[in-house]
Amino acid sequence: MGQIIDGKMVAESMKAAIGEEVKDLLAAGKRAPHLVAILVGNNGASETYVANKVKSCEELGFASTLLRFPPSITEQELLAEVEKVNNNADMDGLIVQLPLPDHINPDKVMETIHPSKDVDGFHPINIGRMAKGLPAFISATPQGVLDLLAYYKIETSGKHCVVVGRSQIVGLPMSILMQRNHPVGNCTVTLTHSKTKNLEEICSQADIVIAALGRPEFIKANHIKPGAVIIDVGLTRVEDPSKKSGFALKGDVDFNDVFEKCSYITPVPKGVGPMTIVSLMKNTLLSAKGKIY
Ligand code: GUN
Repeated sequence: MGQIIDGKMVAESMKAAIGEEVKDLLAAGKRAPHLVAILVGNNGASETYVANKVKSCEELGFASTLLRFPPSITEQELLAEVEKVNNNADMDGLIVQLPLPDHINPDKVMETIHPSKDVDGFHPINIGRMAKGLPAFISATPQGVLDLLAYYKIETSGKHCVVVGRSQIVGLPMSILMQRNHPVGNCTVTLTHSKTKNLEEICSQADIVIAALGRPEFIKANHIKPGAVIIDVGLTRVEDPSKKSGFALKGDVDFNDVFEKCSYITPVPKGVGPMTIVSLMKNTLLSAKGKIY
């Protein structure tokens, strides 16, 4: 039977520690860490994510600035706004919430954010530095997964980790991180994706499965080896008339189906989700303290 990995509890304890560090900074006469979020248009999910980031800043004593732009903003205008933040020494971290309107190239925007302020860890320089094991901003969700594995003292060295999904935000960096020579790492990693053949067979050889494919309840008991550790990064809104909100949040793993078979599992919600914002705050604090660059 699985032990539930309580992401909400771990996130709260990490937030408390970050809050204490902010107090120490202020007591030493330094300014609070400052996170800037750029939001283009009015995508409902993005509004919620950004509002939660701003709220976390308030809770932890960070300064935050939300810059909102209409969907009609041109790519050139947006890049100029990014440059303004790059050049402002009082701003430590910048995130540009994705997705962006179709006429704006997200890669161009990510590459314009200065690597030293790229607290999302999406800039190619940060991804390259991460891959080489150099100090780098590591993207928030993969960092949150590493912190959960560390908190629960889950052995990773020599284990077979199967990552399902190769997104730039989660699957790809996760696969790189899990194979690094690092206390949480040293796995033999298999990165699977939509063209992978025999996914069930590959997953069922895994000691650790990290599901990040964005298909609700896709991973079932027949994908899982008895005793495997399951990390569910999926978060899809599924219509559910029985809920007041009209929708339910589903992970990529069929929790009830796999629960008896696994050793550890992250639930959805309250698993990986709460860790993502904490990692972003941690990166912003590291930036303010000049710990990465
Ligand atoms: N959209 C979905 N997840 C993320 C994230 O982690 N960062 C940014 N900037 N946009 C997102």
